[in-house]
Amino acid sequence: ANAVSLNLTDIQGDILIGMKKNKELFFFFGIENATEFKARLKSDILPLVTTTTQLLNVSTQPTTALNIAFSQTGLFALNITDNLNDAPFTGGQLKDIGNLGDPGTTNWVKQFVGTDIHGVILLASDTVANINTELANLQSKLGDCITEIYSLQGAARPGNEQGHEHFGFLDGISNPAVQGFQTPFPGQAVVPTGEILVGEDGDSISRPAWAKDGSFLVFRQLKQIVPEFNKFLVDNPIHIPALTRAQGSELLGARMIGRWKSGAPVFLAPLVDDPALGADPTRNNNFTYALPGQTFANATDQSKCPFSAHIRKTRPRADLGLPETQSSNHHIVRGGIPYGPEVTAAEAASNTTTIDRGLAFVCYQSSVAAGFQFLQHLWADNTQFIHSGVGFDPIIGANKGAQRVVSGLDPTDPSRTITLATDFVVSRGGEYFFSPSLSAIAHTLSV
Ligand code: HEM
Repeated sequence: ANAVSLNLTDIQGDILIGMKKNKELFFFFGIENATEFKARLKSDILPLVTTTTQLLNVSTQPTTALNIAFSQTGLFALNITDNLNDAPFTGGQLKDIGNLGDPGTTNWVKQFVGTDIHGVILLASDTVANINTELANLQSKLGDCITEIYSLQGAARPGNEQGHEHFGFLDGISNPAVQGFQTPFPGQAVVPTGEILVGEDGDSISRPAWAKDGSFLVFRQLKQIVPEFNKFLVDNPIHIPALTRAQGSELLGARMIGRWKSGAPVFLAPLVDDPALGADPTRNNNFTYALPGQTFANATDQSKCPFSAHIRKTRPRADLGLPETQSSNHHIVRGGIPYGPEVTAAEAASNTTTIDRGLAFVCYQSSVAAGFQFLQHLWADNTQFIHSGVGFDPIIGANKGAQRVVSGLDPTDPSRTITLATDFVVSRGGEYFFSPSLSAIAHTLSV
């Protein structure tokens, strides 16, 4: 499919381009009365669902954008028994915990422990007040047919930190472009529509017809312990004669992510940050880890970027050979937002997190098994990926409480392993959802 055939008025807006607002509420609900809910879904919710078309044009963007997605138990509650053919989705995220590296559910938000969550409503706007108004409006119409199970308020960070996640790194730089829909920046992956949208070109999995142009939404509440992360960097600077101790600490952080705080990739700026590079979308993604003209990245050289770096683990580019889209169908579109307040002076002074903050992680893909689950389980958590001895992804890699041992972070001695003081990202759980097309809502889910 290309832009001409993609029915953008039928595709929920968050999937391909994101709602891009500074505040976003995730409202997790249970369906109490399916008959009543179906009626309200059609008459009151569907007209509010923000489409891709609406988001593409500033003049048609609503004050508060709304998207909705359902879990497997939610589809069952609506009496939809068709098999969406995605094992992680069908079982729910709790059942998938063994594949995600979480050390049990001790750190999980208790409402995620179970399968009671039937759906999630995403509300995005410039202010929390707008969101609350829209939510109150919705709740007054829905009455008792749904109940709130849990909600999480996301918010972009203030001032110069806007667009940066809580560790301080610019986020939202590298998402795949969908073929025929977006014009790619240099270095951006171009993926078939069917890698993100169910039933489109490149999605060969058999699904019910109504699932076409929907996408699986993975939600994870990922707590970040920021003062502890900062202390770890201060305590473990990379020693390079040309760098001050503080620069050595910054370099360690940048090599853990694979980018500097500005967004500049360490592969292109190996020793010090280059904010102009970070801010330039025509350059900040334009690299493959291979030398120019080479198909494969060098299998031993980590001088510019560790194999373990978060962005290299989750998108190995030329480590898998080129062209990337033929070597990997494991792309996701990320659309998360930070949650929680800024680090307080007391937390910074004591190097101890006392307030929950982190990333309300959201990603879309046409298969949870090939997308999020694959990236987390087979790449980030796999100490032998992409080569033996690489160790964990230092940001999200985990294996049921095993110490995070990471190699490649020290460019002067890449075989040196560094054991992280603790997990700086702690999974608080989540759920797997399906974000259906508007026509599926109208003709299948609400009847
Ligand atoms: C990229 C941070 C969780 C997959 C990035 C970037 C940052 C970042 C700073 C670079 C900016 C960009 O390319 O947009 C974090 C933090 C996380 C987190 C702090 C947890 C709190 C995850 C999870 C996954 C993931 C759970 C998937 C399992 C990716 C991917 C990229 C990325 C695919 C883009 C890689 C590329 O295309 O080069 N992340 N991330 N991240 N992250 Fe994460």
